[in-house]
Amino acid sequence: MSSPRSNPDGSLIQARQLTMVYPNGAGDIEVLKGVSLSLFPGEMLAIMGPSGSGKSTLLYILGLLLRPTGGSYWLAGQDVLSLDRAGQALCRRERLGFVFQTCDLLENSTVYENLEFPLIYAGVAPRERRERILTALEQVNLGHRLRHAANRLSGGERQRVAVARALVNRPLVILADEPTGQLDHRQGHLVMDHFEAVAAGGTAVIVVTHDPDIAARCHRVCPLQDGRLVVAPKHAQGWAADA
Ligand SMILES: Nc1ncnc2c1ncn2[C@@H]1O[C@H](COP(=O)(O)OP(=O)(O)OP(=O)(O)O)[C@@H](O)[C@H]1O
Ligand SMILES: [Mg+2]
Repeated sequence: MSSPRSNPDGSLIQARQLTMVYPNGAGDIEVLKGVSLSLFPGEMLAIMGPSGSGKSTLLYILGLLLRPTGGSYWLAGQDVLSLDRAGQALCRRERLGFVFQTCDLLENSTVYENLEFPLIYAGVAPRERRERILTALEQVNLGHRLRHAANRLSGGERQRVAVARALVNRPLVILADEPTGQLDHRQGHLVMDHFEAVAAGGTAVIVVTHDPDIAARCHRVCPLQDGRLVVAPKHAQGWAADA
Protein backbone atom coordinates (compact mmCIF):
# COMPACT_ATOMS: atom_id res chain seq x y z
CA MET A 1 0.00 0.00 0.00
CA SER A 2 1.35 3.42 -0.90
CA SER A 3 -0.68 5.59 1.50
CA PRO A 4 0.87 7.13 4.65
CA ARG A 5 1.62 4.90 7.61
CA SER A 6 0.07 7.16 10.25
CA ASN A 7 -2.77 9.64 10.64
CA PRO A 8 -2.09 13.41 10.40
CA ASP A 9 -1.77 13.64 14.22
CA GLY A 10 0.79 10.80 14.22
CA SER A 11 -1.62 8.20 15.57
CA LEU A 12 -2.12 4.77 14.03
CA ILE A 13 -5.73 4.50 15.17
CA GLN A 14 -8.11 7.40 15.51
CA ALA A 15 -11.65 6.27 16.25
CA ARG A 16 -14.41 8.73 17.09
CA GLN A 17 -17.88 8.06 18.46
CA LEU A 18 -18.09 4.47 17.27
CA THR A 19 -21.51 2.97 17.87
CA MET A 20 -22.74 -0.57 17.37
CA VAL A 21 -26.33 -1.71 17.49
CA TYR A 22 -27.02 -5.40 16.86
CA PRO A 23 -30.46 -5.94 15.40
CA ASN A 24 -32.40 -8.36 17.54
CA GLY A 25 -35.99 -9.62 17.26
CA ALA A 26 -36.97 -8.60 20.76
CA GLY A 27 -35.41 -5.11 20.47
CA ASP A 28 -32.05 -3.88 19.22
CA ILE A 29 -28.96 -4.40 21.38
CA GLU A 30 -26.94 -1.21 21.71
CA VAL A 31 -23.48 -2.48 22.57
CA LEU A 32 -21.25 0.53 21.84
CA LYS A 33 -22.64 3.99 22.53
CA GLY A 34 -19.85 6.24 21.29
CA VAL A 35 -16.34 4.89 21.71
CA SER A 36 -13.47 7.25 20.95
CA LEU A 37 -9.87 6.17 21.00
CA SER A 38 -6.46 7.27 19.77
CA LEU A 39 -3.56 4.88 19.62
CA PHE A 40 -0.01 5.87 18.77
CA PRO A 41 2.96 3.84 17.48
CA GLY A 42 4.54 1.80 20.25
CA GLU A 43 1.60 2.17 22.58
CA MET A 44 0.08 -0.77 24.43
CA LEU A 45 -3.49 -0.43 25.58
CA ALA A 46 -5.54 -2.85 27.65
CA ILE A 47 -9.32 -3.01 27.44
CA MET A 48 -11.14 -4.55 30.37
CA GLY A 49 -14.81 -5.02 31.13
CA PRO A 50 -17.40 -7.59 32.13
CA SER A 51 -18.48 -10.40 29.83
CA GLY A 52 -20.90 -9.04 27.23
CA SER A 53 -19.73 -5.42 27.58
CA GLY A 54 -18.66 -5.26 23.93
CA LYS A 55 -14.89 -5.80 24.05
CA SER A 56 -14.82 -8.31 21.18
CA THR A 57 -17.29 -6.18 19.23
CA LEU A 58 -14.94 -3.19 19.51
CA LEU A 59 -11.94 -5.27 18.46
CA TYR A 60 -13.84 -6.66 15.44
CA ILE A 61 -14.71 -3.11 14.39
CA LEU A 62 -11.10 -1.94 14.80
CA GLY A 63 -10.03 -5.10 12.90
CA LEU A 64 -12.35 -4.22 9.99
CA LEU A 65 -14.27 -7.44 10.46
CA LEU A 66 -17.47 -5.69 11.50
CA ARG A 67 -18.90 -2.41 10.26
CA PRO A 68 -19.98 -0.08 13.07
CA THR A 69 -23.43 1.46 13.01
CA GLY A 70 -21.91 4.93 13.33
CA GLY A 71 -18.75 6.90 13.94
CA SER A 72 -15.46 7.41 12.14
CA TYR A 73 -12.28 5.39 12.04
CA TRP A 74 -8.92 6.34 10.59
CA LEU A 75 -6.22 3.70 10.46
CA ALA A 76 -2.67 4.53 9.40
CA GLY A 77 -3.69 7.57 7.37
CA GLN A 78 -6.80 6.09 5.78
CA ASP A 79 -10.50 6.63 6.35
CA VAL A 80 -11.00 2.88 6.45
CA LEU A 81 -14.80 2.90 6.84
CA SER A 82 -15.03 4.46 3.39
CA LEU A 83 -13.11 1.56 1.78
CA ASP A 84 -14.95 -1.24 -0.01
CA ARG A 85 -14.62 -4.83 1.18
CA ALA A 86 -11.59 -5.54 -0.98
CA GLY A 87 -9.86 -2.40 0.27
CA GLN A 88 -10.60 -3.32 3.86
CA ALA A 89 -9.32 -6.87 3.30
CA LEU A 90 -6.06 -5.51 1.89
CA CYS A 91 -5.73 -3.11 4.81
CA ARG A 92 -6.39 -5.93 7.27
CA ARG A 93 -3.79 -8.13 5.64
CA GLU A 94 -1.07 -5.52 5.45
CA ARG A 95 -1.60 -3.56 8.63
CA LEU A 96 -3.38 -5.61 11.25
CA GLY A 97 -2.55 -8.70 13.25
CA PHE A 98 -5.49 -10.35 14.99
CA VAL A 99 -5.54 -12.82 17.88
CA PHE A 100 -9.12 -14.05 18.15
CA GLN A 101 -10.69 -15.09 21.41
CA THR A 102 -11.46 -18.44 19.78
CA CYS A 103 -7.96 -18.72 18.20
CA ASP A 104 -9.65 -19.53 14.88
CA LEU A 105 -6.96 -21.82 13.44
CA LEU A 106 -7.29 -23.90 10.28
CA GLU A 107 -7.90 -27.16 12.08
CA ASN A 108 -6.61 -29.68 9.54
CA SER A 109 -3.58 -27.63 8.58
CA THR A 110 -0.25 -27.75 10.33
CA VAL A 111 1.07 -25.07 12.63
CA TYR A 112 3.49 -24.08 9.86
CA GLU A 113 0.68 -23.78 7.30
CA ASN A 114 -1.45 -21.72 9.67
CA LEU A 115 1.34 -19.17 9.80
CA GLU A 116 2.18 -19.44 6.11
CA PHE A 117 -1.24 -18.57 4.69
CA PRO A 118 -1.23 -14.90 5.72
CA LEU A 119 2.29 -14.54 4.31
CA ILE A 120 1.27 -16.10 0.99
CA TYR A 121 -1.66 -13.66 0.77
CA ALA A 122 0.73 -10.81 1.54
CA GLY A 123 3.01 -11.94 -1.31
CA VAL A 124 6.05 -12.80 0.83
CA ALA A 125 8.61 -14.97 -0.99
CA PRO A 126 8.98 -18.64 0.15
CA ARG A 127 12.41 -18.31 1.74
CA GLU A 128 11.45 -15.25 3.75
CA ARG A 129 8.19 -16.95 4.71
CA ARG A 130 10.14 -19.79 6.24
CA GLU A 131 12.45 -17.50 8.18
CA ARG A 132 9.60 -15.42 9.55
CA ILE A 133 7.55 -18.47 10.52
CA LEU A 134 10.45 -20.12 12.35
CA THR A 135 11.24 -16.89 14.19
CA ALA A 136 7.62 -16.32 15.21
CA LEU A 137 7.26 -19.90 16.44
CA GLU A 138 10.51 -19.73 18.39
CA GLN A 139 9.20 -16.54 20.02
CA VAL A 140 6.23 -18.41 21.44
CA ASN A 141 8.26 -21.56 22.27
CA LEU A 142 6.59 -23.67 19.62
CA GLY A 143 9.51 -24.39 17.30
CA HIS A 144 9.04 -28.11 18.00
CA ARG A 145 5.37 -28.14 16.89
CA LEU A 146 5.95 -27.06 13.28
CA ARG A 147 4.33 -30.08 11.60
CA HIS A 148 1.62 -30.66 14.17
CA ALA A 149 -1.96 -30.37 12.92
CA ALA A 150 -3.78 -27.54 14.69
CA ASN A 151 -6.49 -29.89 15.93
CA ARG A 152 -3.90 -31.88 17.89
CA LEU A 153 -2.64 -28.94 19.94
CA SER A 154 -3.48 -28.14 23.54
CA GLY A 155 -5.53 -25.01 24.31
CA GLY A 156 -2.46 -23.07 25.38
CA GLU A 157 -0.48 -24.17 22.33
CA ARG A 158 -3.34 -23.07 20.07
CA GLN A 159 -3.32 -19.68 21.71
CA ARG A 160 0.41 -19.35 21.18
CA VAL A 161 0.05 -20.28 17.49
CA ALA A 162 -2.60 -17.58 17.19
CA VAL A 163 -0.18 -15.08 18.74
CA ALA A 164 2.62 -16.17 16.37
CA ARG A 165 0.24 -15.79 13.42
CA ALA A 166 -0.52 -12.20 14.48
CA LEU A 167 3.21 -11.40 14.71
CA VAL A 168 4.35 -13.03 11.50
CA ASN A 169 3.01 -10.35 9.14
CA ARG A 170 4.77 -7.57 11.06
CA PRO A 171 1.58 -5.52 11.38
CA LEU A 172 1.31 -1.86 12.39
CA VAL A 173 -1.36 -2.74 14.94
CA ILE A 174 -1.99 -5.95 16.88
CA LEU A 175 -5.51 -6.57 18.17
CA ALA A 176 -5.52 -9.36 20.71
CA ASP A 177 -8.72 -10.70 22.27
CA GLU A 178 -7.85 -12.41 25.56
CA PRO A 179 -4.55 -13.71 24.14
CA THR A 180 -3.48 -15.12 27.50
CA GLY A 181 -6.85 -16.48 28.65
CA GLN A 182 -5.80 -20.11 28.36
CA LEU A 183 -2.18 -19.73 29.34
CA ASP A 184 -0.57 -20.25 32.71
CA HIS A 185 1.00 -17.26 34.45
CA ARG A 186 4.46 -17.76 32.97
CA GLN A 187 3.30 -18.34 29.39
CA GLY A 188 0.89 -15.42 29.64
CA HIS A 189 3.69 -13.09 30.60
CA LEU A 190 5.89 -14.50 27.83
CA VAL A 191 3.23 -13.50 25.33
CA MET A 192 3.22 -10.02 26.85
CA ASP A 193 7.03 -9.98 26.52
CA HIS A 194 6.60 -10.52 22.76
CA PHE A 195 4.01 -7.79 22.50
CA GLU A 196 6.32 -5.47 24.42
CA ALA A 197 9.15 -6.28 22.02
CA VAL A 198 7.08 -5.51 18.92
CA ALA A 199 5.71 -2.36 20.58
CA ALA A 200 9.30 -1.22 21.19
CA GLY A 201 9.69 -1.44 17.40
CA GLY A 202 6.70 0.88 16.84
CA THR A 203 3.79 -1.53 16.59
CA ALA A 204 0.69 -0.53 18.57
CA VAL A 205 -0.98 -3.26 20.61
CA ILE A 206 -4.50 -3.53 22.01
CA VAL A 207 -5.07 -6.36 24.46
CA VAL A 208 -8.50 -7.34 25.76
CA THR A 209 -8.06 -9.11 29.07
CA HIS A 210 -9.80 -10.05 32.29
CA ASP A 211 -6.46 -10.36 34.09
CA PRO A 212 -5.34 -7.20 35.96
CA ASP A 213 -1.70 -8.39 36.00
CA ILE A 214 -1.69 -8.67 32.21
CA ALA A 215 -3.45 -5.31 31.85
CA ALA A 216 -0.89 -3.67 34.15
CA ARG A 217 1.81 -4.43 31.59
CA CYS A 218 0.16 -2.03 29.13
CA HIS A 219 0.67 1.73 29.12
CA ARG A 220 -3.01 2.35 29.72
CA VAL A 221 -5.83 0.30 31.12
CA CYS A 222 -9.23 1.34 29.76
CA PRO A 223 -12.48 -0.08 31.13
CA LEU A 224 -15.37 -0.56 28.71
CA GLN A 225 -18.46 0.39 30.71
CA ASP A 226 -22.04 0.94 29.60
CA GLY A 227 -21.01 1.06 25.96
CA ARG A 228 -18.26 3.63 26.49
CA LEU A 229 -14.52 3.30 26.76
CA VAL A 230 -13.03 5.15 29.71
CA VAL A 231 -9.72 6.23 28.23
CA ALA A 232 -7.32 6.23 31.14
CA PRO A 233 -4.25 8.46 31.39
CA LYS A 234 -0.96 6.81 30.68
CA HIS A 235 1.17 5.42 33.50
CA ALA A 236 3.70 7.98 34.64
CA GLN A 237 6.60 5.74 33.66
CA GLY A 238 4.90 4.52 30.48
CA TRP A 239 4.76 5.70 26.97
CA ALA A 240 5.32 9.47 26.67
CA ALA A 241 3.36 11.12 23.84
CA ASP A 242 -0.09 12.53 24.49
CA ALA A 243 -3.24 11.28 22.74
N1 LIG B 1 -23.89 -10.97 16.06
C1 LIG B 1 -24.55 -10.58 17.16
N2 LIG B 1 -25.89 -10.40 17.15
C2 LIG B 1 -26.54 -9.98 18.25
N3 LIG B 1 -25.93 -9.73 19.43
C3 LIG B 1 -24.61 -9.89 19.50
C4 LIG B 1 -23.84 -10.33 18.38
N4 LIG B 1 -22.53 -10.41 18.75
C5 LIG B 1 -22.50 -10.04 20.05
N5 LIG B 1 -23.73 -9.73 20.49
C6 LIG B 1 -24.06 -9.24 21.85
O1 LIG B 1 -23.32 -8.06 22.08
C7 LIG B 1 -22.86 -8.02 23.44
C8 LIG B 1 -21.36 -7.82 23.45
O2 LIG B 1 -20.73 -8.98 22.95
P1 LIG B 1 -19.14 -9.11 22.91
O3 LIG B 1 -18.82 -10.44 22.33
O4 LIG B 1 -18.57 -7.93 22.23
O5 LIG B 1 -18.79 -9.05 24.46
P2 LIG B 1 -17.40 -9.25 25.23
O6 LIG B 1 -17.20 -8.03 26.08
O7 LIG B 1 -16.32 -9.59 24.26
O8 LIG B 1 -17.70 -10.48 26.19
P3 LIG B 1 -16.72 -11.68 26.70
O9 LIG B 1 -15.87 -11.10 27.81
O10 LIG B 1 -17.68 -12.71 27.21
O11 LIG B 1 -15.93 -12.18 25.55
C9 LIG B 1 -23.32 -9.31 24.09
O12 LIG B 1 -24.49 -9.04 24.83
C10 LIG B 1 -23.63 -10.22 22.92
O13 LIG B 1 -24.66 -11.11 23.23
MG1 LIG C 1 -15.18 -11.29 23.92
